[in-house]
Amino acid sequence: MIYFDNAATSFPKAPGVSEAMAAFLARDAANPGRAGHRMAVAAERMLDDTRLKLTRLFDGADPSRMVFALNGTDALNMAIKGVLGPLAGKGAHAITTVLEHNSVSRPLQAMADAGAIELTRVTCDDQGFVDPDDIHKAITPSTKLIVITHASNVLGTIQDAVAIGQVAREHGVLFCLDAAQTAGVVPVSIEQMNIDLLAFPGHKSLLGPTGTGGLYVGEHCPAPGNGDTNHLRPWREGGTGGDSSTPTQPAIYPYYLEGGTPNTVGIAGLAAGVDYLSKQDTTQLLAHEQALVAKIIERLASDDRFTVYGSLDATKHVGTVSINIQGYEASDAGSILDDSFEIAVRPGLHCAPYAHRRLGTFPSGTVRISPGPFNTEGELDTLLDALDQIAG
Ligand SMILES: Cc1ncc(COP(=O)(O)O)c(C=O)c1O
Repeated sequence: MIYFDNAATSFPKAPGVSEAMAAFLARDAANPGRAGHRMAVAAERMLDDTRLKLTRLFDGADPSRMVFALNGTDALNMAIKGVLGPLAGKGAHAITTVLEHNSVSRPLQAMADAGAIELTRVTCDDQGFVDPDDIHKAITPSTKLIVITHASNVLGTIQDAVAIGQVAREHGVLFCLDAAQTAGVVPVSIEQMNIDLLAFPGHKSLLGPTGTGGLYVGEHCPAPGNGDTNHLRPWREGGTGGDSSTPTQPAIYPYYLEGGTPNTVGIAGLAAGVDYLSKQDTTQLLAHEQALVAKIIERLASDDRFTVYGSLDATKHVGTVSINIQGYEASDAGSILDDSFEIAVRPGLHCAPYAHRRLGTFPSGTVRISPGPFNTEGELDTLLDALDQIAG
């Protein structure tokens, strides 16, 4: 099988990931706990080491504010419901974009439908970029949160997170960046981008296993329990492996948001993914993915049998591009690639219906091709030949 579905989850994982998981499971897989036996303490230490690695990778200030999540969706729900959820009071305004994944769009829409928030969904241009000025214009005195994706998971286009973060900070609005498509491959700086809430999965470009992710909670989200009513509310509550005496979540990060036994085995694998990346030149990894995208665009954009969506400048993409083949539904093209050529791509709406409405590709969607760091030029040639044969 040739795998071009890295935007959904990366495959293969980084060398060392499965070994680290197997070793942790075989040797150290106790339930972590700060005050427990030595195996529990060792498991907790592995979590803390990984928090530190992730905090450094994203230029954060305080590893205790690196909260583990089960995936990108979990981290985003933690952020969105934490800021805007039922305990936060009614009437807040949130700004998002048409490029968002359903893990952003759905929680926000559900709150808007319930009358709990006002929601503005800013559009993008034909190339697939959101104008930071449009975000600026959408801000009202009630705006509490701006949530945007760092790169579209449909088009692959990288958004100007620095400019949007600046707008948010200047207006005292919390800025949540969904780095699902960028974390690990595009530089993400919590400090330089003025990010208040950084949500990311561990299983995409961080090259870790599924079941992992994180939310970094910046200092503009005050620690709970200091009398400031503006702090994040936990949307998942339960055991925290430490202080069991408090009637509600202990008012200390990261445990405040981390109810339940964490995916220690997965996090051991995620740590190995981050270790692998720390030894690579990630500029080269991104350049490799962009070179593969550039070749797809070069071949297909000038061929009448194909449509390439969004920007044709591969340097503005992560390793993702969306196409359609004339005369084929996206789902049929995907099935043919799978059945006849053993090539994995992702047809359909990619959990981003508003993006497809904007592109005019709703409801059948597009064929998304997403190369990763381990794809070769030879594999891409096989894909391009297959597309040529299908298109006739
Ligand atoms: C832009 C974007 N945000 C959020 C998510 C959700 O991440 P997860 O699948 O880890 O829940 C995805 C997943 O594809 C995504 O592409």
